[in-house]
Amino acid sequence: MKHFEPRIIGFYCNWSSQIGIDSAGVEEASYPSNLRLMRVMCSGSVDPEVIIEAFKRGADGVLILGCHLGNCHYRNGNYNALKRYHLLQKTLEQFGVERERLRLEWVSVAEGKRFANLVGRWTDELRKLGPMRQFS
Ligand code: FES
Repeated sequence: MKHFEPRIIGFYCNWSSQIGIDSAGVEEASYPSNLRLMRVMCSGSVDPEVIIEAFKRGADGVLILGCHLGNCHYRNGNYNALKRYHLLQKTLEQFGVERERLRLEWVSVAEGKRFANLVGRWTDELRKLGPMRQFS
């Protein structure tokens, strides 16, 4: 069987998540290079259409990272992200996309190692799921 490496797109908020990711580097906690990260102001600002477009363009997984609930720099942004996340998982399933391919996580400034570990474990899960099938 041919080895499969998933392509993962990640969106991270400019505040706690960014510092959490940076702290992974400071703590020398490595994570798979499968993940390509893009900074957004808040997890709540990630438009669901952008997520769907990422899957259409070949992402095997999409990760959204935000501040812990109650710590969003914009008060309710992460609560909005959480509501959209559940709706989007259901919508994706209706199109035959496994809900595990979309993931929302809270990462604080002190969770660099946790971030690196979760990316490592999730990348392994995506390897087991296999490539994303054609999605249009
Ligand atoms: Fe981090 Fe809103 S600013 S989730």
